[in-house]
Amino acid sequence: MPSMRFLITAGPTKEAIDPVRYITNRSSGKMGYSLAEAAAHDGHRVLLISGPTSLDVPHGVDFLPVETAQEMYDAVQNQAPYADIAILSAAVADYRPVSVPDRKIKKTGERMILELERTKDILGSMRMEFGFRGILVGFAAETHDVESYARGKLERKQCDMIVANDVSRRDIGFDASENEVLLIYPDRTDLLEKAAKTHIAHQIVERACRLVRGKGL
Ligand code: CTP
Ligand code: CA
Repeated sequence: MPSMRFLITAGPTKEAIDPVRYITNRSSGKMGYSLAEAAAHDGHRVLLISGPTSLDVPHGVDFLPVETAQEMYDAVQNQAPYADIAILSAAVADYRPVSVPDRKIKKTGERMILELERTKDILGSMRMEFGFRGILVGFAAETHDVESYARGKLERKQCDMIVANDVSRRDIGFDASENEVLLIYPDRTDLLEKAAKTHIAHQIVERACRLVRGKGL
C-alpha cells in the first residue's frame, strides 16, 4: 500500500465578538487528532489544520494552526491540491458576528442582539470551488435523524464518506474518549461499534485508503 497524503481538519473555530469575547463550537479536537495520529502511524504524510485545542500535535504530523472559519477555509483551499485524502472533522462555526468592534462592548440594556452572518462551508467548497478530486470524507454532528441528515450532507457536499456522530448520546463524542459512528457511503451505511476514538480513527483511515484503491486514483 503506497503512502498517501492526508489533509485533516480538527477542533473548533473561534469567531471574535469583540476583543475579549468570542463564539465557538463544542469540540475537543480528539477525533481529528486521533485521525492524524493514526494516519501518520500507518506511514502516511499528514497535514493537520486545526482550530484551538489543548491537545499536543501528534508525532510526525505537519501542523497548521488557525483560529477562524475564514482562516481554516483559506488554509484548506491552499493545501487541498497537495492531498490525496481530505478528512474534514473540524467543528466549524456556521455563523460569525457581522462586525467586530476594536473596543470592548459594554453592557447596557437587559437584552442585546448580536447580528451574525454565515461563514463559508469548507467541506461544501472542496469539489466545486477548490476542484478537489481526491477522496473526500466529512463528518456530521447530529442530535436526531442522524442517518438521513448525514446522507443529505454526503450528497450535497459530494463526499465519498460521511462519519456520522449522534451527539445527543452522553457516553460517546465530545469530551469522551470513546465514540460510535455510522459510516455513510453513497450505496450503504456501516456501523463502527463503540470503541476508543483511537481505534475508530484507525478504521476510518483504513477505509479512506480502501476508497482510493476502489476509485483507482
Ligand atoms: N463544515 C465545513 N465548513 C463549515 C461548516 C461545516 O467544512 N462552515 C464541515 C464539517 O467539518 C463537517 C461537515 O461540514 O465535516 C458537516 O458539519 P455539520 O456542522 O454537521 O453540518 P453543516 O453542514 O454545518 O449543517 P448543520 O450544522 O446545519 O447541521
Ligand atoms: Ca454546522
